Amino acid sequence: MLVVQRLDGRIHDRAGFDCGEASLNRYLHDLASQHHRAGVATTHVLVEHDAPPKILGYYSLAAAQMSLVDLAPADQRRLPRHPVPVARLARLAVALAEQGHGLGEALLQDVVKRCLGLREELGIHALLVDALHARAAAYYRRYGFRATADDALTLYLPLGSARQGGA
Ligand SMILES: CC(C)(COP(=O)(O)OP(=O)(O)OC[C@H]1O[C@@H](n2cnc3c(N)ncnc32)[C@H](O)[C@@H]1OP(=O)(O)O)[C@@H](O)C(=O)NCCC(=O)NCCS
Repeated sequence: MLVVQRLDGRIHDRAGFDCGEASLNRYLHDLASQHHRAGVATTHVLVEHDAPPKILGYYSLAAAQMSLVDLAPADQRRLPRHPVPVARLARLAVALAEQGHGLGEALLQDVVKRCLGLREELGIHALLVDALHARAAAYYRRYGFRATADDALTLYLPLGSARQGGA
């Protein structure tokens, strides 16, 4: 069974992770734990329940905001004339040997679920991502991400209208 866990350098083998993109490897190897402690970004790893040291994939999340005008006109409706609070999917990567088997999709589903949970506590209108390159942008578009007005590599996924509790 696959599970997503918060990165823990005492358990997870960061150095053994290779997704084929040096910058994403380096981030996990050298910076992710430090950023997590500093409150800059949280990192979550996908592992086998029975073999937690081996990292199959990971993502990092941080609070962010985007300009209202970067949303498509239809997505701007009913929003206040202020910067829009979002969660930034700062990094997403799957180990080379595991790519193409749906793990990236599973991680994206986990990100969305986490953001929907978080927004019970904090305004999060959408999920923002900076794609590394056009291929990565194409990957995100498959899942409903839309390019922002001024950059085809910066995309957002509206999180929809959550159920209103009480009032
Ligand atoms: C991009 C990445 C996270 C996708 O994860 P994955 O587990 O390989 O992807 P999945 O198996 O969930 O892919 C689902 C679908 O997307 C397709 N896909 C995978 N990578 C793609 C890409 N770069 N561009 C377009 N489509 C892609 C798959 O072919 C698959 O399609 P199918 O269901 O029709 O067969 C992974 O390939 C990776 O880590 N790549 C290197 C790092 C990287 O580029 N990260 C993006 C950071 S912005």
